[in-house]
Amino acid sequence: MRYLTFALTKGRLARQTLDLFEKIGITCEEMKDKESRKLIFTNEEMKLRFFLAKGPDVPTYVEYGAADIGISGKDTILEEGRKVHEVLDLGYGKCRMCVCGHRDAAPLLQHHERIRVATKYPNIAKDYFYNVKHQTAEIIKLNGSIELAPIVGLAEVIVDIVETGSTLRENGLDVLEEVCPLSARMIVNPVSMRMENDRIKDLLTRLRAQVTD
Ligand code: PRP
Repeated sequence: MRYLTFALTKGRLARQTLDLFEKIGITCEEMKDKESRKLIFTNEEMKLRFFLAKGPDVPTYVEYGAADIGISGKDTILEEGRKVHEVLDLGYGKCRMCVCGHRDAAPLLQHHERIRVATKYPNIAKDYFYNVKHQTAEIIKLNGSIELAPIVGLAEVIVDIVETGSTLRENGLDVLEEVCPLSARMIVNPVSMRMENDRIKDLLTRLRAQVTD
């Protein structure tokens, strides 16, 4: 039997995924060692391999078949637009993609005026402003601390993830519009889906029973 390979998103999402997998009897002890710099882990009895990757790289590994299965945030899946099958909403990592800014930027959105939008998610922002709102927008790509942009005058609004809302609150910003809800999803390589159909279906059945609990 060949190994079934999983790409996990480094950090909290990976820890939550490993907790979920443990509930259905899939364990990987060596992965829990926080001191370890090892990147890939195996469960020999079950013929499973796991590796940790940076969030945006997970759909890339899955599209190319270097991983059969990936666990990614819906934000990353939308932004990367890779050819993968999204097969399951895992129900954790819940948050929202939102347009945020100072309250006085709200009329710019309502009246579809020309607007500058700072974001880590240029594809999601473009799709929302061009195809959903039909509003002319200049999309400015940033790599983090997006909330700074409206404060220092780089952009009128941002498109960013809101979880608890505390980053916005502490910086005097508000949610102005919601783009879409987000959560962790399981994605599968299309060829693996056919070649490893039985193993993947079995895994999905066991995961669904936990997720809908
Ligand atoms: C994310 C996001 C917001 C924040 C939202 O940033 O970009 O800044 O979390 O969470 P909250 O609503 O619970 O405050 P992250 O911490 O991932 O870092 P980043 O600034 O590098 O994007």
